[in-house]
Parts: sequence; structure tokens; C-alpha cells
Amino acid sequence: MLRVLSPTIYRYKQLKSTNDSLKEMRKELSLSEASVVVCDDQTGGRGVDGAWISESEKNLTFSILLNPNFLKVEDQADLNFLVSVSIVEYLDFKGLNPSIKWPNDILIDGKKIAGVLVENTFENKVIRDSIIGIGLNVNQLNFGEFRRQATSLATETNRAFNLQEELDLFLKIILKNYSALPFNKKSLRTKYIDRLYLKGIQSRFQVQDEIIDGVIQGVSSFGLLQLQNKTTNEILNLDLKEVKYLI
Ligand code: BTN
Repeated sequence: MLRVLSPTIYRYKQLKSTNDSLKEMRKELSLSEASVVVCDDQTGGRGVDGAWISESEKNLTFSILLNPNFLKVEDQADLNFLVSVSIVEYLDFKGLNPSIKWPNDILIDGKKIAGVLVENTFENKVIRDSIIGIGLNVNQLNFGEFRRQATSLATETNRAFNLQEELDLFLKIILKNYSALPFNKKSLRTKYIDRLYLKGIQSRFQVQDEIIDGVIQGVSSFGLLQLQNKTTNEILNLDLKEVKYLI
């Protein structure tokens, strides 16, 4: 039988960033694995490249502490697969059909419904702490102008949701997947690749300084995007700094 962790939830009214608060708390307290920091109003949310803006009391902004010391430094992508697939399973359960824009954006019909910021620390070549920050748009109906349009559960389903219930449901899914992770790495990666946004569809990308037409083939076990350049047929293995989606 797999042992599934129970979350310990720390709820705050307002925080700058749940990732930063969880990091600070980790230094000062002895936090158990699956500690979760959530706030109603996040005022300085951080994204992968820029801010994460979320209307107060409408959405879920939270961070989960995991200690996956069974993962080596080079296995970090397994955590991306775990988080993205868990969000996809949660949204599938809500009757939506999400896709994963590599590495960790969750989209519904090309619109962003969730973003993920994973921050790991290492000790002796294994992952000591993983702070998994998730912003999930739940009840927000109006979004500002972003490069990519945004959406929410409420926008997609025409109903409102109880934030605590949604958080509990999501935590059940991710912690169950996490308990199986040591034995499930392959199937998680397969599920992740199955749901990749634009896989097999010719699209335009910026690779370093060049604009190319390419087709996403998959993602390597190290988490690199495998993109075929349609002009040269070469398969490129790219990290986050090397590629930008132009769609
Ligand atoms: C992205 O799409 O660029 C990632 C967004 C991650 C946002 C979440 S909200 C909770 C947690 N705290 C933060 O400061 N960021 C993450």
C-alpha cells in the first residue's frame, strides 16, 4: 500500500508570495512534508518570467513543500511532470480538456488557466526541498491584457467554486500521484507528453535569435523540449532560455 501524505494547510489573508513565505517558514520552523501555504490575496506573486497577478479572493494561489530526496538533481523534470499532470487530472475531473504548454503552463483552448513555479534546493546531489507554487484561476471572470489570454474554471463552466474545496481536491490528486512517483516516472512522463500543447502541429518559435517553423515532438526525460526544425529536419533539445513560443 502506498502511503499518501496528508497536507497541513497554513492559510493567510494576504501574502506577498506564497513561495517566498513557505521558504521563510521552512527556515524557521520544522515543517512537515506536504505543508501548504495558501493566501486569499497575493500581492507580489512571482511567475517563471515576471509577475503572477491574481484578483484578491477569487483564485487559488498556494505553495506545497515536498522533500523528494529519492530524486537526483538530474531528475528535476519529474516534478514538473508530476505537477502538470496532476493539474490536468484535476481539470479533467471538472469536465475540461486542458493541455500543457511546456514546461508548466496549463491551457484551455490556448488560454492560460494555471501557472506553476517549482523551486528546488539540493543536498548531496538529491533534491532536498521542492517548493511547488501554483496559481489556478478559479472564480475570476475578468482578466487584464496579457500576452496570452487567461481563463478560469468559472469562465469555462459558468459556475462559481468554493476555493477550499477545490484546494482539497487538488491536493488529494497531487499527493496521491506523489506517493506513486518513485514507481511511476515513466507513466507520468507519457501522460505529460500526451497532453502537450501544439505537439505534432507546425508552429512558429523563436530559438535563440532565430525565428523557425517547427513541430514539437515531445519532451526528454530531462525535461528538454524536443522540437523539429521543419527547414533542416534537425531535432533540437531546448531548455527554457533557448525557446519562445510565438503562438
Ligand atoms: C507562471 O506561469 O509563470 C508561474 C506562476 C506561478 C504563480 C504561483 S501563485 C502561488 C505561488 N507563489 C508565487 O509567488 N508564485 C506561485
